[in-house]
Amino acid sequence: MSFKIIGTGKFIPDYSVDNNMLTQYVDTSDEWIKQRVGIASRYISTKYTTNEMGAFAAKDAMEQCGVSADEIDLIIASTCSSEFSCPTVAGFVQKSIGANCPVFDINSACSGFLFCLETAAMYMNSGKYKKVLVVGSERISRLLDWSDRSTCVIFGDGAGAAVLEAENGHYLASKLFTKGDTDIILIPLDIGNSPFYRGEAKKPAIYMLGQETFKFAVNSIVNDSLDVLKEAGLTVDDVDHFVPHQANGRIINFAAKRLGVPEEKFVSIISEYGNTSSSSVPMALDMLNRSGKLKRGDIVVLSAFGGGLSSAACVIKW
Ligand code: UT7
Repeated sequence: MSFKIIGTGKFIPDYSVDNNMLTQYVDTSDEWIKQRVGIASRYISTKYTTNEMGAFAAKDAMEQCGVSADEIDLIIASTCSSEFSCPTVAGFVQKSIGANCPVFDINSACSGFLFCLETAAMYMNSGKYKKVLVVGSERISRLLDWSDRSTCVIFGDGAGAAVLEAENGHYLASKLFTKGDTDIILIPLDIGNSPFYRGEAKKPAIYMLGQETFKFAVNSIVNDSLDVLKEAGLTVDDVDHFVPHQANGRIINFAAKRLGVPEEKFVSIISEYGNTSSSSVPMALDMLNRSGKLKRGDIVVLSAFGGGLSSAACVIKW
């Protein structure tokens, strides 16, 4: 299979909101949020759109590997929170970096970045696309009901990106999963003001059955990771780093325990950033990459889960 990651990047918004600040809006506490979710703070983008954040992260990734806009053959972005249906995040990124290539967005909620990687792999397998820019950008804060304590304390904004180069022997195995569902996680959008529509629209906000999602999340990380490792002919002992979607620190702890892996092998950035939806995996990967702990040849398992319901995992040889 098809690509190697040659650059990673991220964008962290301007405004850090700690748990105590949220007690102004909802009946919650720093202690509850830290204990039940493992979050101390999150960043809120008070001035940049989802598109702009995606462009900043893309530039960061390109700068890291010294790839210029005219080398990029395709841009794929993941978002479920953009302010625009058009331009897409990928379209805005293209204009912003000055590239001249086809682009499109993918929405598979929090699993979106991994769906982008798999899509990029398929394009690269055609032989026509040599360098692909993949971006995850989310301004989930605009989709929260700030009077609902079961959701508004969990999420944060941010963006991550990766530059992929066609090369065999790195994207070792992958799995995408979707179980169409309309009850467990729902994000209705504004339906506009057509005079012809009938019935009540739901308020545009995230609705989530937390405990059902929690169980799905733990099972997904465990089963998807084992499935892709098996497909790659590897075991959990061969893995140097697990980079899971950052939704709840306890989900990561449970998954580590069930896989029999020391927690130190799991990258966890949730305490400072919260759940940034499909940006969380590329942001965590970029932090791991820039920490100096990631070495060429390391085996890395990425996994994600969320609305859809969807989940995904892949094994990468760095
Ligand atoms: O990225 C998309 C995927 N999303 C996820 O993976 C999220 C998965 N789910 C979770 O992370 C957890 O289920 C939550 C963090 C959403 C909720 O934590 P929980 O431990 O499952 O709490 P719960 O829903 O069972 O609620 C327990 C209690 C309830 O009170 P009562 O009914 O026992 O009196 C809630 O009303 O905690 C209450 N509660 C809160 N209390 C203080 C819920 N939210 C809060 C809050 N502060 N923010």
